[in-house]
Amino acid sequence: MNETTDKTRQQHLEALWEIAKSLQASLNLEEVLDLALTQAMGVAKAEAGTLWLSDNQSNEFIEPVLARGPKADGLKGLKLKIGVGVAGWVTAQGKSQLVSDVLNDPRWAQRFDQSTGFITRSLLCVPLLTHNTCIGCLQLVNKLDGELFNEDDLNLCEALAGVIGIAVENSRLYTDLKTMFKSFLSTLASAIDARDPYTRGHSERVSQYSLKIGKAIGLSEKEIEVLERAAFLHDIGKIGIRDNILLKEAPLDNDEFVIMKKHTNIGQEILQRIEPAHLVKEIALGAACHHERYDGKGYPQGIKGEEIPLQARIMAIADTFDAMTTDRPYRKGLAMDIALQEIKRCAGSQFDPVLAEVFLSEMKKE
Ligand SMILES: [Fe+2]
Repeated sequence: MNETTDKTRQQHLEALWEIAKSLQASLNLEEVLDLALTQAMGVAKAEAGTLWLSDNQSNEFIEPVLARGPKADGLKGLKLKIGVGVAGWVTAQGKSQLVSDVLNDPRWAQRFDQSTGFITRSLLCVPLLTHNTCIGCLQLVNKLDGELFNEDDLNLCEALAGVIGIAVENSRLYTDLKTMFKSFLSTLASAIDARDPYTRGHSERVSQYSLKIGKAIGLSEKEIEVLERAAFLHDIGKIGIRDNILLKEAPLDNDEFVIMKKHTNIGQEILQRIEPAHLVKEIALGAACHHERYDGKGYPQGIKGEEIPLQARIMAIADTFDAMTTDRPYRKGLAMDIALQEIKRCAGSQFDPVLAEVFLSEMKKE
């Protein structure tokens, strides 16, 4: 084995090691793709490189999701039909290609060079394969030392493409699951609200008001996600309240109110049945504690101050504000400014004073 081959193998291993590390460290698909393309270009000494991915819905076209090199920005927004051009051919066939002279390859899609002003001479293109399908390709263009891409370059790119394929598939599955879970919760929230025509859209609005506060106090992306889900489902326990109480077109009497208050614990019990438990623990707490008051005079437990989970203190403001500004059968909803004055008046008693202040200043910005 000569020295050059040894060096190349070492570079290949280092490139793969870097990608493996980034996959462990980040769930961020863009970061992983960026590193994979940079490594491939660096080791294979390519002038330019592009990652083409099929559109997840129709699977008719591939698009350049990432491009590096001169004139790379010119590729933005372009699309290539699967089967057309070398990249489209590789995606359709799932087979790698080394093209030493693009002008002699009838598949070459010249329009991309015409549109960007870049001159492609030679290229290497490998498919991005997932379990049973090809989702795009990794393409390197023009070797910088004037040589042609070789089998070593192809082997490295095929190994990197394997990692990219898995990363893209995982990311798409993760995104699909998150989207499905969110739309499921939103549908569930609408179903709760739909039982009472006067509360239609309530959970959605409570969620929006809560997120205003959450974002203003700098909650992390993860905390915002939990807050949004908790707000969607804060009243899910109303499923267990009888129609004659839930839909009563007059203020509730004492006995009825005792029953109505149970929606907090019922909600918590329902949500605690969802698996995995650690993902819903805080959402269930939100349902349990959204009627607690900062001064300890709320229900069901009468806990006070910071004993009440932060998300429940936020939701208490959002929930009350929406309830005040929405019409009920026995009273008209308050005007926004009157309801805001009421939030201010109850800051420190019913509501966390700091969060109430944040809510007031966020609402003033509108
Ligand atoms: Fe409630």
